[in-house]
Amino acid sequence: MIDLFKIFLLLAGVSLSTSHGVDPNCNITRFSQVETVVKNCKNIVVSNLEVPAGKQLLLDLQDDATVVFEGHTKFGVAFWEGQLVVVKGKHVNVRGAPGSILDAQGEKYWDHRGDHGKVKPKFFAVETTGGSVFSNIYLLNCAHYCVHVGAKDVTIRGWTIDNVAGNKDGLALNTDGFGVASRSDNILIEDTVVMNQDDCVVVNQGTNMVFRNLSCYGSHGLSFAVGFSGKDKPENHSVASNITFENCLVANGLYGIHIKAGPDFNKGRIEGVTYRNIQFSGITQDGIYIQEDYGDIGNLNSEVKIDNLTIENVWGSVKGHHARPVHIVCGRNACSNWRFTGINILGGGKNYCNYKPEGFTC
Ligand SMILES: *[C@@H]1O[C@H](CO)[C@@H](O)[C@H](O)[C@H]1NC(C)=O
Ligand SMILES: *[C@@H]1O[C@H](CO)[C@@H](O)[C@H](O)[C@H]1NC(C)=O
Ligand SMILES: *[C@@H]1O[C@H](CO)[C@@H](O)[C@H](O)[C@H]1NC(C)=O
Ligand SMILES: *[C@@H]1O[C@H](CO)[C@@H](O)[C@H](O)[C@H]1NC(C)=O
Ligand SMILES: *[C@@H]1O[C@H](CO)[C@@H](O)[C@H](O)[C@H]1NC(C)=O
Repeated sequence: MIDLFKIFLLLAGVSLSTSHGVDPNCNITRFSQVETVVKNCKNIVVSNLEVPAGKQLLLDLQDDATVVFEGHTKFGVAFWEGQLVVVKGKHVNVRGAPGSILDAQGEKYWDHRGDHGKVKPKFFAVETTGGSVFSNIYLLNCAHYCVHVGAKDVTIRGWTIDNVAGNKDGLALNTDGFGVASRSDNILIEDTVVMNQDDCVVVNQGTNMVFRNLSCYGSHGLSFAVGFSGKDKPENHSVASNITFENCLVANGLYGIHIKAGPDFNKGRIEGVTYRNIQFSGITQDGIYIQEDYGDIGNLNSEVKIDNLTIENVWGSVKGHHARPVHIVCGRNACSNWRFTGINILGGGKNYCNYKPEGFTC
């Protein structure tokens, strides 16, 4: 009889829960609860959680689970690699309640040395499948890389990455916004603001991605880094294909668009990439910088092919005599089928191109 009554309540959309509609047993307020709640609940709240120093918040979720972060989620300080948060699961929905923040306390790690200083934890890893959605997450003060995406079929929407405090005196470095790797497929990141000190987005590897309506402040731009190996680097022989950046703003950073490949005999391909409707403002080094001699300037032995690249409707400004609006350094025979149209970048010095895209006079 009681079971029938419970079933009735469930069917009626009512559950035995708080006024917020969440079972109090599924509301994580202490770190010790994480494992049990994640195992037993599909409708989870993380409320003002303090994650102890050196611990990972691992949310290895059930299919279709929902997680809402509320209040201030704070990560204790320890000099380790991270990730501080890892989310796994299929068709899950993870979101931030209005006013919530996840705070990595980067200010307690930054040492002007980034990768070369003390080991600092990476922040948030998205490792989900099956049409998962991550919305309205506010990340404050990444110590090191902010978000790693190694996922299939995921939407990331309405995020803020706020590393503004790290701009002071060059304190924070290597705080990449979104790094997409690990054969990711079908990724959408939209309506998001990134304020940081390294790439706004960097694609290492993967297929079928759209990045749109991103505003990047202080960054190193909308980037690819393909064909590098070694610690923290994408694997050898990587492919990035069918990837579009559109309707984005890149302000006050070193680069606007930056495609990097190394000349160190790691193979790779970048193909079917489109940048469309991109605005630059106050970029200090290069507006569009495509270089296959990253890490060894002038070495043109790159084995990374860049084929079928379209850049259309890019406008705005770079500043300083040394800033090049467009700067292209292809490896020998590495570049083909590029089309540039509607490039209107003011300020800076001369362009340089050792490969000529169709539709563009360098
Ligand atoms: C979770 O628990 C905290 C502390 O008891 C409470 O303030 C908050 O309202 C709860 N959240 C939900 C959604 O029930
Ligand atoms: C672009 O993203 C911002 C949030 O960064 C949002 O407020 C705005 O509505 C979005 N614009 C469009 C056209 O979706
Ligand atoms: C390219 O990616 C987009 C967005 O993920 C997708 O809709 C489209 O089908 C892909 N195109 C091809 C040829 O796979
Ligand atoms: C990368 O792969 C190429 C062949 O595909 C190989 O010659 C090279 O040694 C590899 N490099 C590393 C660092 O593994
Ligand atoms: C170039 O890339 C675009 C976007 O991925 C794709 O739609 C188009 O078919 C590609 N063209 C060729 C010739 O491969």
